[in-house]
Amino acid sequence: MNYLIVFIMNLAIILIPCIYLFVIYIFKKKKKRKLKIGHFLIAIIMATLIILIKDKVSDIILKDNKSGDSVIKEVENGSGNEVEDNPNYVETTSKGYILEKIDGAYYIDGYIIVNKSYPFSDSWIPSNTEEEINNDICKNCLDKEVYNMWSQMKNDATSIGLNIYISSGYRSFSYQKGLYEHYINKGGKDYADITSARAGHSEHQSGLAFDLNSVDDSFSATDEGKWVNNNAHLYGFIIRYPKDKTNETGYKYESWHLRYVGTYLADKLYNNGNWITMEDYFGLDSQY
Ligand code: DAL
Ligand code: ZN
Repeated sequence: MNYLIVFIMNLAIILIPCIYLFVIYIFKKKKKRKLKIGHFLIAIIMATLIILIKDKVSDIILKDNKSGDSVIKEVENGSGNEVEDNPNYVETTSKGYILEKIDGAYYIDGYIIVNKSYPFSDSWIPSNTEEEINNDICKNCLDKEVYNMWSQMKNDATSIGLNIYISSGYRSFSYQKGLYEHYINKGGKDYADITSARAGHSEHQSGLAFDLNSVDDSFSATDEGKWVNNNAHLYGFIIRYPKDKTNETGYKYESWHLRYVGTYLADKLYNNGNWITMEDYFGLDSQY
């Protein structure tokens, strides 16, 4: 949608001055049909004004993607025309978002991006976690804000008689390496690659994601699974690997894997129950 607005404004840069010149020409008497230099100057001024407005609008649109939540990193060299000056700039995505690499992690507008195309560095670990990271795996070693939102979600679920719990939270780079190898031994490489992330490519390294309950396909049909699917976005969580989106995310449907993005983006991606992937929203690939 944002991409469409920018595209329409790009079109307007040429179309509106042309329409202006055309109208001036048509409304002149047949004998006097001649455009003056002044008309062309006005057309150029019009185009310049539209360019300026377009830059402002794209700036607002990109900034608007932030939820305002603290876990969404404040990127100093955010959006706008700073591409040439931005040492963190990696690329502009197919939907016009600026992808940056900062201290071993990829970001768009402050949101961490991690998938098959965009890994963490080996040594990347989350800071500001609820519980200090002293092990390769840790259920409560989640970002403090994420842990807080998770606690609210769990309490609300409990109050209506549902039992949701974290089965897998933070996982280190080296733990993920072993886990991926386990899946290769179990079902071969293709099976492993749609089931488990390779080391460095897992959101479990971020402190922003966790798995719930049985970590199993059966979860989606349980009362807990249905409630999570319909309510997680209210707490800023998304179903990161939705149903029938393997071609976008690179992974099979995981009804149990939640990723925190803050309520603004979670609501967009929830899309009234028809989940949109981060890959689709931001215009990203996810492939090795
Ligand atoms: N199962 C997800 C893709 C992971 O391993 O991070
Ligand atoms: Zn997971």
